[in-house]
Amino acid sequence: MSQTDSWGSRVGLILAMAGNAVGLGNFLRFPVQAIQNGGGAFIIPYLVCFLLMGIPLLWVEWAMGRFGGRKGNHSTPFILHEMDPKRALWKYIGVFGIFTNIAVAAYYCYLESWTLSYVWHSIAGSFNGQSAEQVAAFFGDYININTSTTGIPFEPIVFWLICLFLNTWILAQGLSGGVEKVAKIGMPLLIIFGIVLAVMGVTLKAGHHGAVNDGTMGLNFLWTPDYSSIWSAKVWLAAAGQIFFTLSVGMGSIQCYASYVKKKDDIALNAMSAGWMNEFVEVVLGASIIIPISIGYLGIEKVVELTQTGGLGLGFKTLPYLFTQWGPTLGMIAGVCWFGLLFFAGITSSLAMGTPVMGFLENEFGWKRKPAAWFFGIIVLVLGLPTVLYFNEGVFDEYDYWAGTVGLVVFALAEIILFAWVFGMDKGWKEITTGADIQVPLAYRFIIKFVTPLFIGGVFFASLPGIWEKITATGLPWQVHGARALLLLMFLTISWFVRVAYLKRLAKLKHSKA
Ligand code: ALA
Repeated sequence: MSQTDSWGSRVGLILAMAGNAVGLGNFLRFPVQAIQNGGGAFIIPYLVCFLLMGIPLLWVEWAMGRFGGRKGNHSTPFILHEMDPKRALWKYIGVFGIFTNIAVAAYYCYLESWTLSYVWHSIAGSFNGQSAEQVAAFFGDYININTSTTGIPFEPIVFWLICLFLNTWILAQGLSGGVEKVAKIGMPLLIIFGIVLAVMGVTLKAGHHGAVNDGTMGLNFLWTPDYSSIWSAKVWLAAAGQIFFTLSVGMGSIQCYASYVKKKDDIALNAMSAGWMNEFVEVVLGASIIIPISIGYLGIEKVVELTQTGGLGLGFKTLPYLFTQWGPTLGMIAGVCWFGLLFFAGITSSLAMGTPVMGFLENEFGWKRKPAAWFFGIIVLVLGLPTVLYFNEGVFDEYDYWAGTVGLVVFALAEIILFAWVFGMDKGWKEITTGADIQVPLAYRFIIKFVTPLFIGGVFFASLPGIWEKITATGLPWQVHGARALLLLMFLTISWFVRVAYLKRLAKLKHSKA
């Protein structure tokens, strides 16, 4: 994304930002988190986290992005640096905003490629006439590269490469020519597919097509508030983690997108439009598909049991089988809608993950957009390969834990402290409200300064025992150690590039003064 790149229209920007947020997390992660954490018991902490952490971080990140963009910075190392130029530390904290995007993209694109392949299998009728066990086994077979018999040879690798190529090619077309166009097509389609499936899920009736419960039983499970586990740290951590992941806050991609907003353009209303669109898609559509359909067929107990063994099972192992209960035609339509919406949700998010590193290379090293996009594609290929080859050994989960969970909290904590306490709330509030098309509630000035930092700090400290447990765990396969080493190496390499870029800037400054 070059210095001169910009958004084509306001609608395009909002859809791209919403597309960044709306992702596989909305449809796969949210329902599973909700089920694992007691349904109605999850929703209250989730909504509180959205109001006190999600919304403030959206405003802060949009404001940081537009502020940085004004000075020609499109990735977090130098956006953070500009906010406190006196301290060397911030640009290295900003490394997270490039690192996390690349590391998440490395496993996310693989997940995205499954959805593409499952669209194909839904059209080809691969699941028709199979038992529930066979459909579940199909997934296990699919991801087992060496023995995969699900279709074309090395099928997961082929779809993964197609997916990487698509991402790279779209990124090479730029913001308005690529990312924005995909968002304008993908987001409406995703919402239409989502509505079709949600109606099918909610209107599911016991006794029809083999369902044993009404679809509404799943909705009641989710929407009946349960105050019993409100004091459970585990539920709060899960809710906070979901808010971070679903809104893509603490990642660095929002700052990058917002850095292409013009200096007097609104960000307050834009941030809310994208954020609330994400919540609509998550809590209305995302909650009305997997949960009612699976509970309609399997009952609450069985679904809770299925989610204990990981989150991806329901979406890929169970749902395709349940769709076949609706007959070949309706089943195929449901399959295409489901995996199609997952694909659009995924790609509009993974595109956002590519932009910070491109912005960095273009700003600091004068790269052109196309090579920068291909560079991103190659890095994701190299870093993603272990997740493809060693999925069963836990490499995928390892990336998700360190980058997609811990990385987000650490970076969000650092950036909110920088924004509210170092940059200062007077300047910060001005950044948020300049050009605003809505009245930002004054209460948020207080929330951003005190509540959100304390909240994120609390989440961070509460996560420490879990992090420590991970670090000290013994008997891990070598692939997991390798994954950690790769992530660390990448973080250090980006830090080194940031250092080189900084020295280049200093030399340029000296030169211009001389
Ligand atoms: N926000 C993106 C998602 O929910 C990463 O999947």
